[in-house]
Amino acid sequence: MGRIITVASGKGGTAKSSLTMTLSATLAAMGYRVAVIDADPNACFAQWHGIYEGAPFDCMAEVRQDEIVDQAQAQAADHDVVLIDTAGFGNTTAAFAAGTADYVLVPVMPDRASAVEAMRMVRQVGSFAKASRREIPVALVRARWNAKGLVERAVLADLEAANAPVLDAFFADLSDFGKLTLSGRVPTTGKIAQQTEKMIAELIGLGAVPAKPTKKAKAA
Ligand SMILES: Nc1ncnc2c1ncn2[C@@H]1O[C@H](COP(=O)(O)OP(=O)(O)O)[C@@H](O)[C@H]1O
Ligand SMILES: [Mg+2]
Repeated sequence: MGRIITVASGKGGTAKSSLTMTLSATLAAMGYRVAVIDADPNACFAQWHGIYEGAPFDCMAEVRQDEIVDQAQAQAADHDVVLIDTAGFGNTTAAFAAGTADYVLVPVMPDRASAVEAMRMVRQVGSFAKASRREIPVALVRARWNAKGLVERAVLADLEAANAPVLDAFFADLSDFGKLTLSGRVPTTGKIAQQTEKMIAELIGLGAVPAKPTKKAKAA
């Protein structure tokens, strides 16, 4: 069984799809069998997958709340990692996707509203975990994050004061994130690549991503 990672946040435009793009492309390049389920009705990710150039991974759209769990579990049967890109938690399908996840990643951008929403997400995931009587680990992923910025430092201090589970790895404010949505190419060198690799190493350490890809069966 592969790992199901749901990317969710209460707010739009917090880098959910960007995070899903860099993780999926980089994991695929590392040899992982990756599936992405685009659970956002705007289907941005699935459209992007149409122009994507890079190590192949599977992508499908599923926005129905009564299908997303079955779809995620079916994909986990023959992929190492299943990423679910959601429309955020105003959306019931996203809630089901979090309910079936092995890990929930919540992107957060450097502003107080984003931090407040991210903390609310963490509490909601905690509530799902209680409802289903199991653990659902959750981590915040900082995006568009200028580590030396005053706002960033204030927001991080708030998150830490609230004991929020914040990943060490983060994405800096990089215009290349916009470019990759147009080119379909996720950089394999440079800052985005380095930051993504660091994040994947951290996710492996947390058990959110399997330590190694499954060996591919020999082609018949
Ligand atoms: N680290 C980053 N640096 C600069 N721009 C970013 C970064 N992450 C995301 N963006 C940009 O922010 C916008 C919203 O990101 P997106 O991933 O579409 O958010 P969501 O899927 O949560 O709505 C996009 O224009 C994207 O290119
Ligand atoms: Mg999106």
